[in-house]
Amino acid sequence: MLKETLINATEAGARVLQHYFASKNLQISNKEGINNLVTEADHASEKAIMDTIKEQFPDHFILSEEAGEMATASEYKWIIDPIDGTVNYAHGIPICCVSIGIEHKGSMVMGTVYNPFLKEFYFAEKGQGAMLNGDLIAVSTETDVNKSCLVTGFPYTYLDVPNGPLEVFARFIRRGVPVRRLGSAAMDLCWVAAGRFDGFYEHKLEAWDSAAGFLIVEEAGGKVTDFNGDYYSPYQPSIIATNGKIHADMLIAINDKM
Ligand code: IPD
Ligand code: CA
Ligand code: CA
Repeated sequence: MLKETLINATEAGARVLQHYFASKNLQISNKEGINNLVTEADHASEKAIMDTIKEQFPDHFILSEEAGEMATASEYKWIIDPIDGTVNYAHGIPICCVSIGIEHKGSMVMGTVYNPFLKEFYFAEKGQGAMLNGDLIAVSTETDVNKSCLVTGFPYTYLDVPNGPLEVFARFIRRGVPVRRLGSAAMDLCWVAAGRFDGFYEHKLEAWDSAAGFLIVEEAGGKVTDFNGDYYSPYQPSIIATNGKIHADMLIAINDKM
């Protein structure tokens, strides 16, 4: 029932994304920071997702980007990003998705990421592998970070810290390593899981950006840590997700230890 509700909720959100996509009069407003957008589709997707969950599991804990936290005493917590890649979405760029992770007693146990425009539905369950449209997927086998294709993202507000996003980006680019920037952390993670990218890193994410995607990478055989190389928690900001083979070299490059 948990899996069925997760899939139904994800599909309910994705139907909303399709409904409003490329609409000429989509209502868009700004959140904190510059160009940190929220659209009526974010709110409508979130409502469709939460209604589906609450119908089956009215007592479960929910953490959702726009609505915030609906805390309960339940062992189950749903972590929702109703649209990951909102800036893309608002510009009619089909690199965006619904992302939902389920935690049980503090561990991520199931997750979905669905991009209805590319028709890519990613699903992972702890210990059961990761799937794209029902087929098992696996991370890439590249062992050399210099031959890798990487992806990253940048926060909405410029992070003016030593070794910040632009410095790390410049370091890889100077080495001739291709680093893409898709604008959806959940898609970035799934494309690592599918073996398209060898690694993803980002300085500052929120729990809903990565909750489902990090489990999908792990279940596809990849490795996910924070910038210290410690076990990944979606409740702290930094993330490195790789095929495992380039992970140590990515950590060195990102922390400028070379
Ligand atoms: C954003 C995207 C983007 C990442 C930002 C996130 P949103 O999520 O995942 O790739 O760089 O840090 O906030 O706002 O589109 O849900
Ligand atoms: Ca997001
Ligand atoms: Ca979002």
